[in-house]
Formats: sequence, structure tokens, C-alpha cells
Amino acid sequence: MNVKKSFIVFSGRSNPKLAEAITRNLDVSIGKATIEDFPDGEIGIRINENVRGRDVCIVQSIARDPNFYLMELLVLVDALKRASARSILAVIPYYGYARQDRKNLGREPITARLVADLLEKAGVTNIMTLDLHTEQIQGFFEIPVDNLYARPVLIEALKKEKLNNCVVVAPDIGSVKIAREFAFELNADIAIVNKRRLDAEQVEADALIGNVSGRNVLLVDDIYSTGRTMTKAARVCRSLGANRIVGAVTHGLLLTDEVNEVEKLFVTDSLPEREERKFSNVEIISVAELFAKAITSAMQGDSVSSLFKPSSC
Ligand code: R5P
Repeated sequence: MNVKKSFIVFSGRSNPKLAEAITRNLDVSIGKATIEDFPDGEIGIRINENVRGRDVCIVQSIARDPNFYLMELLVLVDALKRASARSILAVIPYYGYARQDRKNLGREPITARLVADLLEKAGVTNIMTLDLHTEQIQGFFEIPVDNLYARPVLIEALKKEKLNNCVVVAPDIGSVKIAREFAFELNADIAIVNKRRLDAEQVEADALIGNVSGRNVLLVDDIYSTGRTMTKAARVCRSLGANRIVGAVTHGLLLTDEVNEVEKLFVTDSLPEREERKFSNVEIISVAELFAKAITSAMQGDSVSSLFKPSSC
């Protein structure tokens, strides 16, 4: 990729593989910084090259150990701000705490907003992220937010599955928008599972709006965490006569021992794989090139939205 290398990309420690892949696509090397843990658990950072008056990006997902990596991101931003960087673009492929975006019950926090405030206060000037859990989170920031979509790369990967006669199924109401966009681009029908969350871990899914009988199913969602949402939705589809069932999800937290009920699950590398658990039926699709293109556009003052086809919604 031919980029004007007027900017520097730094990486935190949450997803170094993705950061390296992004910089490979950009044909730049990662900015020099020393990041270490002090004996008392505090994070120590030193930027080892001049950033005065430069535009910088930091690649860091707020995941796996979200509190630690959020703090690390804030400390990195502070170091770059105090080193007189001109602008700081936080590239956050997985925006942790996004599901805490409203008060469901009294006396609950809105932590997605708190994270936004912390990032802004630290000195971030622009945010780039991927499939935000709800797009309204953009409004939690006073600074510009570019929300990218994994859909094009997932659809490209899905082509080899040859899921003809396919119905795109939203495993809950929150995923209807994503499902509609997949269905629009795949020229497929859509169906919706009626899911109810009982608590942070338990979900109940019973009915389906639409028809999956005798059809192949593509289940789509933004997050696969414990897998209960997708598992329950797949069971509903199977009980109603679906044929093959494949899943496509942007953020594979994959906090489960098995990926059951779907024959195959596509996730992106927005967060690193769990070291302790690999899944034979999970395929990881890289969003590095997508981020590299978006960063290039952002840094050159070009349109980022033009990277995506107009949405159906
Ligand atoms: C919820 O609104 C999200 O879109 C996902 O459906 C949910 O976070 C998945 O969680 P789990 O895999 O634990 O059911």
C-alpha cells in the first residue's frame, strides 16, 4: 500500500499480532516505545522516538484483560500527549465495556460512556473502532469516531462456504441491523430469534420470526462471548428444520470450551485468540487490511465511509 508515512503507529500489548499486521499492510514499522510492568503492578511507558508535532495512532483492543489494557491505553495516550504529538488516533478494534451502554436497572453505571470520557480526558483526538455494539456510543464522545464494519471481510470469507438458499438470522433483536445488512449484500432473506437475557450469563430463546425450514442459515452477531446467544439461536433454527448452520461474528471473545450447534464460526482478529483454547471449527479472518486502509484514509483526509457499500438501513 502506498502511504504517505507522515504518521507513526504505536501498539499496546493487547493485540500485537493485529498491530503488526496493520503496520505490515501500511508498510511502516511500529513506533518505538518501552512498555513494562513495575514490580508493584503499575504500568511504565517510555516513548523512544520523537513525536513532537506528529500524527500518531495507537492500536489497542480493550479485551481479554480489559481493565489492564484500558489503563495501558490511557497511559500510552498520556505519554504521547506529553511528548507533544499533534494528534492521537486511538484504533480500538474491540471497544470493551460497550455492552454497558445504558442503565437497564436503577443504580447501574454506563461504563461505555465512562470509557469514552477517560479516553478523551487522556488526550485522544480521534477514535477508530469496529462494529461498535451500538452505534449510539459514538455520541458518548465529543471527538470524531470512525466505526468500521467487518461485514465485507466476513462476507468474502463466507463465499467459500457456498451457503446457497440461505437465510440470515439475527440471534436477538439487537442484531437485526447487522443481519439486515448481511442479508442485503447476500441478497438473502432474514429471520429473527426471540431471545431474552435472564442475567449476564443466561439467555432464553424460543421463537423465530421468519422461515428457516429446509434452508441454510447464517447466524450473525457482533460478539460471541459465552456463546449462549448463538447456541440457543442455532437450536431454535435446527428445531424449525434448518439445514446447515454457520455463524459470522465480528468479535470472538469465545469464552467457552466448545463451539457447538454451528458447523463453523467465522470471527475476526479484533481481539487475540485465547492462548489456552483453540477451536477447530472457528476460522479467524483478519481485519488488518481494512484497518490499514481506514487509517490511511483518515491520515490523508480521505473518506473512510467510502470503504463500505451503502448500507440497507
Ligand atoms: C448482545 O446484545 C450481543 O450482541 C451478543 O449477542 C452477546 O453479547 C453474546 O453474548 P453470549 O455469547 O455470552 O451469549
